Amino acid sequence: MELDERLILWYLENGRDLPWRNTRNPYQIWLSEIILQQTRVDQGMAYYLKFIETFPNVKVLAKADEDTVLKMWQGLGYYSRARNLHATAKYIADELNGKFPNTYKDILELKGVGPYTAAAISSFAFKLPHAVVDGNVSRVLSRVFDIGTPINSSEGQKEFQQIADECLSKSQPDIYNQAIMELGATVCKPSNPDCERCPLAYNCLSRLRKNIAERPVKLKA
Ligand code: ADE
Repeated sequence: MELDERLILWYLENGRDLPWRNTRNPYQIWLSEIILQQTRVDQGMAYYLKFIETFPNVKVLAKADEDTVLKMWQGLGYYSRARNLHATAKYIADELNGKFPNTYKDILELKGVGPYTAAAISSFAFKLPHAVVDGNVSRVLSRVFDIGTPINSSEGQKEFQQIADECLSKSQPDIYNQAIMELGATVCKPSNPDCERCPLAYNCLSRLRKNIAERPVKLKA
């Protein structure tokens, strides 16, 4: 079995049931990804649910006044995220007729959306074949393939994106992306990874070489 198939089977059995995983609505997925950029899942959950209840679609969010949006963001920090969110909702409502962009390139142009978030929205909402690379994903890849290039160097960012693109399931990019993030978040943790529960344990080069504690390599800021 290929690595992507193993990961997907594991995820379907073991993945957490999170509200933004039960939708293909790009607005809801975008909202969840902006919230989760600098916020943990357990903290972000209540905010996500409140936002989609109060602002059920991009037009309603666009019409809200900025103070209301910022107030609802209170406690999450990094307020530029909330300002970008509101500005982007207005842009989509006014310039795109309320229709969320549906290509990677157009999604990447939205304020507050970088390569990770564009890949997440493209794959989760539109099943487009773009691999997500965040801290969890690069940790998993650095261990499975025993890669010592620093994950936060520009060389490393390129290399990990390339490997992630090669591993991506082209038939189920949405599930695959959720799966590799989930593995990093719940099993292949920064310290004391749970290798006994890992579907990739037998493919994992750094486990074989006993250097998991040295992966990933990270340059000091
Ligand atoms: N963090 C960022 N995006 C996520 C997602 N879709 N599921 C769980 N954690 C996440």
